[in-house]
Amino acid sequence: MEITPSILTADFCRLGETLAEASASGINWFHMDVMDGNWVVNRTITFGPALIRSAREHLGTNAFIDCHLMITNAEETWDQYVDAGVDLVIAHIEAVDDFPTLITNLHDAGVQAGCVLNPSTPIEEVLPLLPDLDLVLVMSIIPGKGGQMFMPEIEGKVRAFRAAIDSQMSVGGRATKLMIDGGIKDHNASMVAEWGIDISVVGSGLINDRGTFSENLEAIRTALKT
Ligand code: DX5
Ligand code: ZN
Repeated sequence: MEITPSILTADFCRLGETLAEASASGINWFHMDVMDGNWVVNRTITFGPALIRSAREHLGTNAFIDCHLMITNAEETWDQYVDAGVDLVIAHIEAVDDFPTLITNLHDAGVQAGCVLNPSTPIEEVLPLLPDLDLVLVMSIIPGKGGQMFMPEIEGKVRAFRAAIDSQMSVGGRATKLMIDGGIKDHNASMVAEWGIDISVVGSGLINDRGTFSENLEAIRTALKT
């Protein structure tokens, strides 16, 4: 299972150093959490395309950058994130009226298309889109901030997506990636890997005041090997 860091708990004045340390630790996939002060329940604002553009310039062209859009108007503003240099746009099924058109627009613009669903949203809302999606993201917390408790009740949803993706791939369909986001730490990373997750977002489990980024990543990698 691949690990991608969320930078929400980082010191933004030292973000370049954090990104460099992550790259030096072998991280190649970076997860950017965009909140617009409106869509998430706690009305948080994080950052937008300008910071993502800086991260892209800092990381270079080889890094893979996704943006997780927790915003009201992804259908109208997705191109700002593409211009900023993301490789994959992940939009919430609950926030987009016409998801098939968004997928088409993203693919036409040359980037990957992802769909994310909240813990309470049924899998059936996303399954019809699966053949065209490059990634499905299952939220294991209510979106809005890092450092929340993992919600184990999403296990069935993860396993159902894994089965649907495996069956899609077995008939030559798209190899849609399965990602999880929220509350992943060294103590539960191997559990979600066993459920069939391909990529896990880790925020406060990597960027905290208990250890360096590399030490925290090593603890997760060690846990995944055991
Ligand atoms: C929250 C974000 C997550 C969050 C993860 O809405 O989507 O990416 O930063 O942070 P942790 O790993 O601390 O739950
Ligand atoms: Zn996220």
